[in-house]
Amino acid sequence: MNSLQGRHFLSLHDFTAIEIESLLNLAAELKQQQKKGKPHPLLSGKTLGMIFQKPSTRTRVSFEVGMWQLGGHALFLNSQDLQMGRGEPIKDTAAVLSRYVDAIMIRTFEHSEVVELATHASVPIINGLTDLLHPCQILADLLTIREKLGKLAGLKLAYTGDGNNVAHSLLLGCSKMGLDIAIAAPRQHWPFPDIVAKARENAAKNNSAVQITVDPLEAVKKANVIYTDVWASMGQEAEKKERKNTFVPYQINNDLVGAAVTGALVMHCLPAYRGDEITAEVLEGKQSVVLDQAENRLHAQKSLLVQLMGQAK
Ligand code: CP
Ligand code: NVA
Repeated sequence: MNSLQGRHFLSLHDFTAIEIESLLNLAAELKQQQKKGKPHPLLSGKTLGMIFQKPSTRTRVSFEVGMWQLGGHALFLNSQDLQMGRGEPIKDTAAVLSRYVDAIMIRTFEHSEVVELATHASVPIINGLTDLLHPCQILADLLTIREKLGKLAGLKLAYTGDGNNVAHSLLLGCSKMGLDIAIAAPRQHWPFPDIVAKARENAAKNNSAVQITVDPLEAVKKANVIYTDVWASMGQEAEKKERKNTFVPYQINNDLVGAAVTGALVMHCLPAYRGDEITAEVLEGKQSVVLDQAENRLHAQKSLLVQLMGQAK
């Protein structure tokens, strides 16, 4: 059995480096089994409920397919079609769904809603993205970096653009696993100070570094990985035009890639807006691993589901 059984997955900060490593190890194993066509029905008879308050391609499909490959079942629950959308308290939704399903994945706006769900649910809650964090994405990203570069600790990841949910989870995940991380963003879009403080605490224990700067060239210096995300996240559509002007100097293009380590990985959680945060040339270029990241959502989350839902291997 494993130590993660019954735990919630709300933030990478709640997990030790050893626990994250065990998630990555099982993910790699499950990936191999799937590639070989070897069945691995570790969650046979189990059901995952998936509540979505925001759109999704990767998260929805990877969780749904993942549960199916593990011999279980996933239920897509659009929050607008749930009584939750008409004002049923999260507390009641959590208690009721816990009587039907074995775990709940939720994608929503306020991070506090996920915390509330976790407080009142008797089954594991998985954060499938909030305005604050996107831990499932970063689990898949760590798997991708480890596959491509053979290690995590000792590398440097540079993120340029908006200090958003993805940047926050990268700060927590990289600092936990001993990667140096540099974030370049306009000052008014820097990541939240409490997240940066947590990342710095982790980094101090791991002998790694956390840098927040306004200068993208400074950030990508000596970076083994360059990462970006959309300039306007879901829910920020009204600010799109203004943000587009602010973030222009933070675009990942050939010049910025050229300032990093030769052959550095280019990453993006997708969906991407070509010509805004990343040029089409770089997104589709030979250093880009964006499709591996997307694929690894499947393998990383299967590992997470198996470990949280507690089936012995
Ligand atoms: N990267 C990611 O979470 O994609 P979706 O919004 O398509 O789920
Ligand atoms: N920061 C983006 C990530 C999408 C996967 C958003 O929240 O919309």
